[in-house]
Amino acid sequence: MSHNLLAGKRGIIFGALNESSIAWKVAQRAVQEGAKITLTNAPIALRMGEMNALAEECKAEIIPADVTNMEDLANLFTKSVEILGGKIDFVLHSVGMSINVRKGIHYTEANHEFMHKGFDISAMSLHRVLQTAYKQDAINEWGSVVALSYIAAQRVFPDYNDMGDAKALLESITRSFGYHYGKHRHVRVNSISQSPTYTTAGSGVKGFDGFYNYADKMSPLGNATADQCADYCITMFSDFTKMVTMQNLFHDGGFSFTGVSPDVIESLTTK
Ligand SMILES: NC(=O)c1ccc[n+]([C@@H]2O[C@H](COP(=O)([O-])OP(=O)(O)OC[C@H]3O[C@@H](n4cnc5c(N)ncnc54)[C@H](O)[C@@H]3O)[C@@H](O)[C@H]2O)c1
Repeated sequence: MSHNLLAGKRGIIFGALNESSIAWKVAQRAVQEGAKITLTNAPIALRMGEMNALAEECKAEIIPADVTNMEDLANLFTKSVEILGGKIDFVLHSVGMSINVRKGIHYTEANHEFMHKGFDISAMSLHRVLQTAYKQDAINEWGSVVALSYIAAQRVFPDYNDMGDAKALLESITRSFGYHYGKHRHVRVNSISQSPTYTTAGSGVKGFDGFYNYADKMSPLGNATADQCADYCITMFSDFTKMVTMQNLFHDGGFSFTGVSPDVIESLTTK
């Protein structure tokens, strides 16, 4: 059901890889709510071709951009403004990757070249995106930028590996750039800290199944789905959250503030 929350708005969606991607759902919801969007992903991800179906459904153009490449990002914003017919109102940063996680390298043995690359793709890229938009003055006043994060930024989840450090940096950049962009153009920058979700990136984490079930049993509302995350993103892009900025917003069914739950206790009780 549409409430036309984004009527007349223009957005850029990063990171829709396949139907299970959180960004995929956000793109669909944004268009249902009346927005016009462009889609972007790394050139290598586009080669898989799955995004074409989403582009068709959303009547959106795909503009390739590696988030670590400033020329690609400059081209993305210039083209998006041209195609959409004006400045941008919202951006979804839904990008993450750790080579150490992918290769199953233990945190204490992390390869620092891989770590560096992972931080660039998963965290510094938000700075790169915001700097590009800031320099081009490509985002409208009161525009909204949302990045996706995970609670491993605050607490240790050993198998989440160096992605926890990447998310801590991502959330810090959200605050720091959020301050400057807020002063400069009233542009809002927030992160949404989402429950474990079955996607390509999510399932790549060792023991994801256990992770997922533990969070589900701990959270009074259960885990938040990708569709529910998309709904939350839409509210953050809308004019109903205009004074929210520099925040990390937990979208996790209450997991972040629950100490323990009867379900978890029961599974550990022996007498
Ligand atoms: N799935 C979860 O459990 C979960 C939980 C909390 C937060 N998140 C975060 O949500 C975001 C989206 O992940 P997802 O779970 O939808 O998985 P996903 O694998 O569908 O999305 C990750 C995206 O990052 C893109 N990407 C990787 N390297 C890139 C590069 N160099 N340039 C441009 N794009 C690049 C991939 O192509 C992919 O589209 C990530 O930031 C992730 O950390 C996921």
